[in-house]
Amino acid sequence: MEDDSPEDTSAPDETADPRDDEQVNIAKEIFSRQEDPIFANKSLLEISHIPSFERIVGRDEEIRKLSEELRGAVQGYSPENVIVYGKTGTGKSLVSKYVSSQAVSNAHTDVNIGFQYLDCSTDNTETQAASTLARSFNDSSKTGFDIPERGLSTAAYYKRLWRTLEELYDVVIIILDEADMMADDNLLMKLSRAGESGNTDCRIGVIAISNKIEWADDLNERVKSSLQPKELSFHPYDADQLEEILQHRRDAFKPDVLEDGVVQLCAAYAASDFGDARKAIDILRHAGNIAYERNAANVTEQHVQDARTKAEKDRFKELIEGIPQQAKASLLALAILSLNSEQEEFPTQLVYRQYQNICENIDQGVRSERRFRDILKELAFLGIVDNRKENLGRSGGITLLNRLVEEPEIVYEIIREDSRFASLTNHLSDN
Ligand SMILES: Nc1ncnc2c1ncn2[C@@H]1O[C@H](COP(=O)(O)OP(=O)(O)OP(=O)(O)O)[C@@H](O)[C@H]1O
Ligand SMILES: [Mg+2]
Repeated sequence: MEDDSPEDTSAPDETADPRDDEQVNIAKEIFSRQEDPIFANKSLLEISHIPSFERIVGRDEEIRKLSEELRGAVQGYSPENVIVYGKTGTGKSLVSKYVSSQAVSNAHTDVNIGFQYLDCSTDNTETQAASTLARSFNDSSKTGFDIPERGLSTAAYYKRLWRTLEELYDVVIIILDEADMMADDNLLMKLSRAGESGNTDCRIGVIAISNKIEWADDLNERVKSSLQPKELSFHPYDADQLEEILQHRRDAFKPDVLEDGVVQLCAAYAASDFGDARKAIDILRHAGNIAYERNAANVTEQHVQDARTKAEKDRFKELIEGIPQQAKASLLALAILSLNSEQEEFPTQLVYRQYQNICENIDQGVRSERRFRDILKELAFLGIVDNRKENLGRSGGITLLNRLVEEPEIVYEIIREDSRFASLTNHLSDN
């Protein structure tokens, strides 16, 4: 008699991996967690989040100055062109977007005003930029024409941009963020001369943002003369300002989850790392994630410290992974010496001998000692190695002592992950 119970109708699947079920369960368990004990509104800590005006802290002066430069726009006149510069995470993009959007919402009723934001690190050619601007300003229900994303010549995109501006606006404000990433100055030139060249009567104000101070100086003289930009520089935040920025985002967390001192510690770390608000927010978010992963009820100072260490390691890993193989071998030599000794600093000659050992061990060419010294200097320039000169007195002359900036275990592990160093005999050292 045949048994037609469902279990027997299919042959057992030999290829099924019992781990599949386990993995499905892990994912299911994580995705189905209803209650987040740590975060109430994590999006407040996301980098893409644009805080409302009440949450912008410590930039009143910059907001005031930029508003002054754009004041004409609100009345239908030409706004000034402005170059905004300052280090990363100092609020340049945020303040520029905020003030521009305020100009739009406060424009006189008889003024048609528009504002667009262009990220020049994405749209970094003249054609792409002209296409994006033309399409984002265009409203086909009013102009009666569409603009294709691709396929037109640069000149054709400009033509449509001028037509759009002419038909729909009296004034526009254009933010060119990361403006130094543009392949050339042509877009700036065209925008600054649009009126003069008779392309459009619409008044155009440009806010060009860069974190390279020298960028504005290097602009083509013709662009400078037609742009006549005002300059506005953003300074790094101090620890108090960073703390206030974070305090205004406390509501990203459930009430009473942040222990005392957590926000201050994030602010202090970010202040010592160049006053970067993005970094402060990142550390706080990562600390929250760590607390969540460890099933903790609160975010503690320890979580902040761990978040920072992790961020440092990630940054360092990225830095080391990008250096050439010879530099990696040199760095590994210093790491091995440090691991095998109580000392932290080693004379170049000693590091060189260790480096030679490594190269022979993995069949890699050996550079001359002179070239090796240059490699160590480059590593110092990158902030991976510290070196200082020491005068050993009459007999010894001057020697260079080298020290790893990061812990040797971490450096060692990162370099050993590179397959070319994987075959190296463990901790080889003849010193
Ligand atoms: N004054 C502030 N108040 C509140 N949040 C701020 C403030 N300044 C910066 N932030 C936040 O910090 C992050 C970085 O700011 P922003 O993007 O404006 O910096 P940036 O100067 O443009 O940096 P980059 O040069 O790297 O582009 C953003 O998430 C922003 O919301
Ligand atoms: Mg920016």
